[in-house]
Amino acid sequence: MRAVLLVGGFGTRLRPLTHYIPKPMLPVGHRPMIELVVAQLALGGVTEVVLALGFRPEPFRAAFPDDVCAGVPLTYAVEPEPLDTAGAIRFAAEQAGIDETFVVVNGDVLCDLDVSRLVQFHRASGAEGTLHLTAVENPSAFGVVELDDNGSVRRFVEKPPPGTEQSNLINAGTYVLEPSVIARIPAGRKVSIERETFPAMVLDHTLFGLATDDYWMDTGQPPLYLRANLDVLDGHRRHLSCRAVAESAQVGGDVRIEHSLVGEGATVGNRVTLRDSVLLPGARVGDDAVIESSIVAGTVGNSARLSDCVIGSDGRVAAAAVLVASRVPAPIA
Ligand code: GDD
Ligand code: MG
Repeated sequence: MRAVLLVGGFGTRLRPLTHYIPKPMLPVGHRPMIELVVAQLALGGVTEVVLALGFRPEPFRAAFPDDVCAGVPLTYAVEPEPLDTAGAIRFAAEQAGIDETFVVVNGDVLCDLDVSRLVQFHRASGAEGTLHLTAVENPSAFGVVELDDNGSVRRFVEKPPPGTEQSNLINAGTYVLEPSVIARIPAGRKVSIERETFPAMVLDHTLFGLATDDYWMDTGQPPLYLRANLDVLDGHRRHLSCRAVAESAQVGGDVRIEHSLVGEGATVGNRVTLRDSVLLPGARVGDDAVIESSIVAGTVGNSARLSDCVIGSDGRVAAAAVLVASRVPAPIA
């Protein structure tokens, strides 16, 4: 079974982390997120992945020079300009010559779903498309789904205003689709699968959904990306684990690492305290710094104190600075 992996978004909400690195290449548990997504798909029977890119393919090509990711062969479909989710799926499916049942995955979603279960359910219900669903507390930030008793989707509303949601089940970002869905997508312009294609399929009663309660996380915002990392450390993932300090990191003396990850090649000075934080590859933290609930890819000076901060790879925090809920450098608008 082939899968189209949507990795063409701009990662706006994770800036400045995504100024120079696309969101799916950011590490989770010391491995690029995309590798975790592909490995999970492979466990469910996916044998080839088409990367649907609307922007900057170079970092992916550099990271996977043999065109293999987590043991799965990769091909690329690079849109001339971002075509939005459905436009990207159509473009990728045509480039790859997909003409049978296939899987689509949002590249920023980490989950323990066994995708073969979704495929089975899809075939058993004779659906044209089947969505993986999960229950969340704040559905209005997602595609909200109302289901009929037979598992068919009665309503799909993308990001409804808070308070108007009729269900706490949301689109979890993994789909099984028949090739007929591709023919529904107009060519050559931006098309949102969530706003155009799914609602049209609902009217035709051909869209189904399967809710599961296994691990699920959309990593698109800093607190969630941070949590996704700590969840691997905490052993909350079925098939994943990681060490706190990556092998090539350098850590000084009297350092307290509490519930935190130190990435490959990161340098940590003496007497530093890290709490509920992630240092990304190449981060540099000076002596006596205290870092809490933060993500750091750049440089933090001696004795600086950070809380709820995001420091990009070109971010520099001055010695003795005290920052709360800051992003450095400021996200590019
Ligand atoms: N190739 C390509 N081209 N990919 C794109 C484009 C594009 O123009 N636009 C977005 N993507 C990719 C993003 O990289 C991401 O992997 C995926 O499509 C979804 O886009 P997001 O920007 O992350 O959407 P979202 O998180 O607001 O909402 C989506 O995911 C939720 C679950 O996490 C929707 O599918 C919601 O319905 C869903 O609930
Ligand atoms: Mg997202």
